[in-house]
Amino acid sequence: MRLVLVGPPGAGKGTQAVFLAAHYSIPHISTGDIFRANIKNETELGKLAKSYTDAGNLVPDSVTNEMVRDRLTWDDAQNGFLLDGFPRNVAQAEYLRAILAEKSTPLDAALEFSLENSEIIRRLTGRRTCRGCGSSFHIEFEKPAVDTICDKCGGELYQRPDDSEEVIANRLSVYADQTAPIISFYRNEGLLITIPALGEVSEISTRAIAALSAAVN
Ligand code: AP5
Repeated sequence: MRLVLVGPPGAGKGTQAVFLAAHYSIPHISTGDIFRANIKNETELGKLAKSYTDAGNLVPDSVTNEMVRDRLTWDDAQNGFLLDGFPRNVAQAEYLRAILAEKSTPLDAALEFSLENSEIIRRLTGRRTCRGCGSSFHIEFEKPAVDTICDKCGGELYQRPDDSEEVIANRLSVYADQTAPIISFYRNEGLLITIPALGEVSEISTRAIAALSAAVN
């Protein structure tokens, strides 16, 4: 299965990606997670990406495209992958189509998670992220056993700098202007599957897997 997840910030792409990647035994490749790991490790890529991610703007395509091209050459991605957070504009979608065409391994589907802005803001302002393993929790919907500690690895939970209300507003505007056009792109390619993203996490995973099973051989 070669899959991209599309949807506004906070729609639950990362949450669903964990289930889908396990279900299809494919790697979960999140460009946001790769940037955050590089920022944490203070690499050159991290230093470059930080000002963009903190403000909720897109990291330049020249950097992001190369990073994804390289990641897709790893052994674990040769029999399928799930891309979460890439592509993020039409130029990235065209780039991805071109690199997959070189290997005659086109995408199977683009799975869009749709959610209203009021719910997005509720999810993002309440999200807590683990500094250790990157897992997401929520102060209301996915409470950790201890407020500041990750249930999975014992790492410290923090609020992402881009989860402040001001930065969320910019991320939503960047999504509407730059990312939403990829929905038409994938519709025209015959790859788009749209899933309503309101409801229990497990319900949404079930919907997504049923829709993928019906659409992809
Ligand atoms: P990235 O990390 O990709 O951020 P994003 O797309 O804004 O997505 P999020 O991680 O915020 O949300 P999500 O949809 O994964 O939701 P989640 O599952 O966590 O990118 C960050 C930055 O990196 C970008 O702004 C940009 O600067 C840069 N970047 C990344 N990719 C790039 C690219 N391709 N090009 C250029 N720049 C790029 O869920 C959110 C919360 O809701 C959690 O707390 C969760 O527990 C909760 N939740 C999830 N599902 C449910 C549910 N069903 N009910 C209730 N709560 C739920």
